[in-house]
Amino acid sequence: MDYESLLAHRTHTMQASAIREILKVASSPGMVSLAGGLPAAESFPLEIMEELTGAVLAKYGAQALQYDASEGFLPLREALVPHLAARGVKATAEGITIFSGSQGILDGIGKILISPGDVVAVEAPTYLGAIQAFNPYEPRYAEIETDGDGLIPESLDRVLADQRVKLVYLVPTFQNPTGRTLPLDRRHAVAEILRTHNALLLEDDPYSDLRYTGTPVPPIKSLAPENVVYSSTLSKTFAPGLRVGLCVAPAPIQRWMITARQGVDLHTSTFTQALAAEYIAAGYLERQLPRILDIYRPRQQAMFDALAVHLPEDFAYTRPEGGMFIWVEGPPGFDAEALQRRILERGVAFVPGKYFYVNPEGKQNTFRMNFTAADPATIERAIAIVGDAIAEELAASR
Ligand SMILES: Cc1ncc(COP(=O)(O)O)c(C=O)c1O
Repeated sequence: MDYESLLAHRTHTMQASAIREILKVASSPGMVSLAGGLPAAESFPLEIMEELTGAVLAKYGAQALQYDASEGFLPLREALVPHLAARGVKATAEGITIFSGSQGILDGIGKILISPGDVVAVEAPTYLGAIQAFNPYEPRYAEIETDGDGLIPESLDRVLADQRVKLVYLVPTFQNPTGRTLPLDRRHAVAEILRTHNALLLEDDPYSDLRYTGTPVPPIKSLAPENVVYSSTLSKTFAPGLRVGLCVAPAPIQRWMITARQGVDLHTSTFTQALAAEYIAAGYLERQLPRILDIYRPRQQAMFDALAVHLPEDFAYTRPEGGMFIWVEGPPGFDAEALQRRILERGVAFVPGKYFYVNPEGKQNTFRMNFTAADPATIERAIAIVGDAIAEELAASR
C-alpha cells in the first residue's frame, strides 16, 4: 500500500514538532532538560487528589462520568467567573467555553476562521504550538516585529494596513518563548489598532498567574473585549495532564467554535472538568498557587544568577517577572544549533530559537531556556556547562 498517496494535501503541512524530537533526547536518563515547558512534577497537588476526587464523586456522582454539554461543565464555568474577573476578564458562565487544553482553542479558532491562503499575523518569535495548530488550515503568515518589550504596535498597524488579516495571535504575558510581557501603554495601543482595523486577536494567556515579582498587567481582552478571543488554561496552575483550557470569545465566534468542536471530541472530559471546578470553587487553587510560585521563583533567580556569571557580555537575555522561559540572544552570526550539539554531549538541552520563527533566517543566534523543570543547583550546573560551551563555540568559529 502506498499510504503516502492517501494523505490529504494539508497533512503535509503538519510537521512533527522539532521540540518534541529535542524533548525525546532531553528526557533520556541523566540529561538536564532546559528544553521543554514542563511544569515541575513537585508543583502538582498530588496530596489533595484523593480528597478532591472524593468530593467530586460525592457532589456530582454519575454526572461526573456522563456525556456533557460541548460548551463545558457548568459548575466549572461558574467557578471560573470570579477567577477570570480577578485577572480583569469580565465574563458570565455562559460566555466561558471549556476546551481540551488551550491547544484545543488554537485548533478551534483555526478551524472556523482560516481558509487556505488567509493571513494570520504572529509575533516574531511566537509559540511553536500555535503554528502547528494553524498550519493544517493552510494560512499565510505575516510577522509582527518585536523588541525588548514585545510586539511593536507600529509594526502591527502596518501589517493590518497592508492586507486583510483574519487573525492576530499574541502571547502578551510572559511569552513563550521569550518570557516578555507587553507593557500597559502598548496594550492600549494594540487595543486601539485592533479597533481601527476591525481586527480579531487571539490573546493566549497561559502564564499570567505565574508571576514571581512586580504587578499584574491587564489583559488586552479587558481593553478591547469585542476584538479579542481570550484563551487560558489550568495546565500551569493545576495539572497539564488533565487538559482543561478555557476561552472567552465574542458570542458569534463562541457559537461557531462550539459547533466545530462537536465533531472533534464532543466535549472535554467531564470528570477532569468536575475536578477543576472543585479545585477552584473549594479554594484549592488559591492555596496551591503560592506553593507553585515558591517552587519556581528560586529556580528563575538561580538561572538569572548563573547567566550573569557564565554568559559572555555580548549575549543578551530577558529578565521576565514570571512565566517559565528565558530567551537568550547571542551576537549576530552565533550558531545556537552548534551550541546545542556541544551541550547535548554534556547532558544539557535547550531549544534553538529559530524554531519559534515563521521566517527563521538570521535568527540562529537565539535560544530558549526553561527554568521550571530543574532545581536551582542543577540549573546553576547546567548554565555553567552552557557558558563553557559558548566559549568553546566562539573560539572554534573565530
Ligand atoms: C503559549 C502557549 N499556549 C498554549 C499552550 C498549550 O497549553 P495547554 O494545551 O496545556 O493548555 C502552551 C503550552 O505550553 C503555551 O506555552
